[in-house]
Amino acid sequence: MNDLFARASGRFGAGALRRGALVAVTAGAAVLAATVAFAPSASAGTTLGASAAEKGRYFGAAVAANKLSDSTYVGILNREFNSVTPENEMKLDATEPQQGVFTFTNADRIVNHARANGMKVRGHTLAWHSQQPGWMQNMSGTALRSAMLNHVTQVATYYRGKIDSWDVVNEAFADGSTGARRDSNLQRTGNDWIEAAFRAARAADPGAKLCYNDYNTDNWSHAKTQAVYNLVRDFKTRGVPIDCVGLQSHFNSGSPYPGNYRTTLQSFADLGVDVQITELDIEGSGTTQANTYRSVVTDCLAVARCTGITVWGIRDTDSWRSSGTPLLFDGSGNKKPAYTATLEALNAGGTTNPPTTPPTTPPTTPPTTPPGTPGGCTASVSLNQWNGGFVATVRVTAGSSRINGWTVGVALPGGASVTNSWNTQATGTSGTVTFRNVSYNGQVNAGTTTEFGFQGTGTGPTATPTCTAS
Ligand code: G3I
Repeated sequence: MNDLFARASGRFGAGALRRGALVAVTAGAAVLAATVAFAPSASAGTTLGASAAEKGRYFGAAVAANKLSDSTYVGILNREFNSVTPENEMKLDATEPQQGVFTFTNADRIVNHARANGMKVRGHTLAWHSQQPGWMQNMSGTALRSAMLNHVTQVATYYRGKIDSWDVVNEAFADGSTGARRDSNLQRTGNDWIEAAFRAARAADPGAKLCYNDYNTDNWSHAKTQAVYNLVRDFKTRGVPIDCVGLQSHFNSGSPYPGNYRTTLQSFADLGVDVQITELDIEGSGTTQANTYRSVVTDCLAVARCTGITVWGIRDTDSWRSSGTPLLFDGSGNKKPAYTATLEALNAGGTTNPPTTPPTTPPTTPPTTPPGTPGGCTASVSLNQWNGGFVATVRVTAGSSRINGWTVGVALPGGASVTNSWNTQATGTSGTVTFRNVSYNGQVNAGTTTEFGFQGTGTGPTATPTCTAS
């Protein structure tokens, strides 16, 4: 837990602070002469990252590893941004090109650059119907489910402690008016594939915020937005680990910035998750484009849990939609009117600093039931098993009266070993392992449940666990 808090409070790393101090010194020299005549603004950042940081937020960019040798590109990146998202280098085809063979070289270049310069990293993405390697495209059923969970576990474990937020699942809902899940090989493994991916990600890196990320989820009245909202609400209700929602926010004439965007941001935030604008680009030019950037930034700053904005590229020529000139810098690296509007909006916006709490799975016990005689409990286990490892989720259910604590015994098959657990205190790693409640999930009201989990190597438990209440 201390580790979690340390990582959370260290979000604006030493490098960022150093860069912030440098900016402050430089800016300080510039405003000194003017101080007699004007009271300079106490919080006027001169770069996107510094200005966002003054509001407790980050401002990031999607970065391509093969551009890190472009000095103009890197100059802007290091000057303006305090978060990066690898544009393609952490996708499934990049990180597991052959089943069981993981390659992190290009992703590492970006992660190392970010860490050396005090920037956060958004991981993108662990599970997606697109950009799958060929071997995965040809899989289905339980083999695919296991392969997907193994991918999530291996990649998130490799980057454990280095990722601020993971896009655990990307683009799982269909466009249009149905609000249905997108058909894909992953969806056909069962409707619970998304929560299984989130549980595996939490097990692998308990300190990273876990996001669901999608596009066309900006307009509050769209069916797809409502479908994602319902997914997040369901996860929060059932204690499935989720910390954030990513709105990609690719805007153009066919998919314009909606007037109810702030309502969408606030509505997601009200579910108890952070909201991140993850892939912002706005096609257009001049004042019109600048004003839309201004609106997006102003909306984010008005919502306390809108914790950061990432633009999907640096210069227009770096964009996946370069002909739409959708970014903040032109092809030569000059600041566009959209840049100025964005910086002004960051400096002018609300001062609602988002909370910097670590990821948590919320306690599921409302504190309203009066104390009763401690009663019994039962426990059941559900398993995601793959070749060589597993994630187990254990549900503890109180009997006919409220319990104030619980101890669960889980018998592991020979050769199996617990490597990691969450929402519990574990004793032992093999044989019969004992799991006790932690401070926030000991109280369970009559007939209600709480969940904890653990990850292990070998074969997961198949017998029903014992449960003792206190
Ligand atoms: O690097 C190769 C190059 O060697 C090769 O010659 C060329 C021929 O096609 O392809 C190049 O790779 C391309 C890669 O971008 C790098 O430019 C891929 O074909 C191309 O599919 C890939 O497109 C990416 C796309 O996702 C698909 O994964 C875009 O760069 C990237 O901006 C885009 O990002 C997505 C987010 O992940 C999810 N949300 C939507 C967003 C925009 O589509």
